[in-house]
Amino acid sequence: MAHCRRRIAEVGHTAVKIDLSGKTALVTGSSQGIGLAIAEGLAASGARLVLTGRSEDRLAEAAGRVRAAGPDADTVTVAADITTDEGTARLLAAAPEVDILVNNLGVFAARPALEISDEEWRSYFETNVLTAVRLTRHYLPGMTDRGWGRVQYIASDSAVVIPVEMIHYGMTKTALLAVSRGFAKAAAGTGVTVNSVIAGPTHTGGVEDFVRQLVPGDLPWDEAQRTFMREHRPTSLIQRLIEPAEIAHMVVYLSSPQASATTGGAVRVDGGYVDAILP
Ligand SMILES: NC(=O)c1ccc[n+]([C@@H]2O[C@H](COP(=O)([O-])OP(=O)(O)OC[C@H]3O[C@@H](n4cnc5c(N)ncnc54)[C@H](OP(=O)(O)O)[C@@H]3O)[C@@H](O)[C@H]2O)c1
Repeated sequence: MAHCRRRIAEVGHTAVKIDLSGKTALVTGSSQGIGLAIAEGLAASGARLVLTGRSEDRLAEAAGRVRAAGPDADTVTVAADITTDEGTARLLAAAPEVDILVNNLGVFAARPALEISDEEWRSYFETNVLTAVRLTRHYLPGMTDRGWGRVQYIASDSAVVIPVEMIHYGMTKTALLAVSRGFAKAAAGTGVTVNSVIAGPTHTGGVEDFVRQLVPGDLPWDEAQRTFMREHRPTSLIQRLIEPAEIAHMVVYLSSPQASATTGGAVRVDGGYVDAILP
């Protein structure tokens, strides 16, 4: 009991003000969408950012937004296809060590279940799972040696509610939950935490196009969004799309020193869409 009280006293009670200054964060797939919002959020808390994407132009624009979010934030951009050996080598040369790794890169597209070829199954696994595993394998040892680090995987509601129109995508997101739990065990007792974030339907450019395809007529955006949620995502408890910044807030918290006791978990930012008590 005395031991327990001592430990609580060491952790202490302070206001939750997240300060990531001095930390370097790599966010994969960060030239737009959720990855860019995460990079902006981490920069606003003082982290130095490494951004990746394949288009130089989009990355340059993203770096400008990240610097606007965190005026002191230093940014490095790596334009490379990080699913390839060559692209990975360029990324690792530009960022040999990081303190925070956010595996955000992920691709998705609808495909009839029985028409997904072997090649497509492999390619989804390579892009959405193996790329994250490879980067974890590279960065985790440095984090454990230094006694501090944060690794996260951006999973999806599709990890839990497998969509019939993209079971190959759902498979990769379920795999990330397993990968995250496993690497958390590998980092046990080191000061490094490893978690996945289950993101729900989020207001990105791709999803906005998808909503426009499914909701007929030229409705104002708010109305189109409400119709989409009511008809296609009825279990959502917020009945609107999630804004990318709302996913970023959770990632910033999980990246913080304050989140030191959250590891090996899958944390939901899904607007209550997954109708379950546990993930
Ligand atoms: N949007 C949602 O509603 C939603 C919901 C749940 C989970 N998620 C997950 O959240 C993550 C981000 O989704 P998002 O919708 O924000 O994605 P997005 O808008 O499609 O952005 C993907 C990012 O990844 C980059 N990228 C794609 N392929 C790449 C490659 N081979 N090498 C390097 N960079 C690459 C893209 O830039 P370039 O094209 O220039 O390479 C872009 O920056 C994904 O893991 C997704 O599964 C999304």
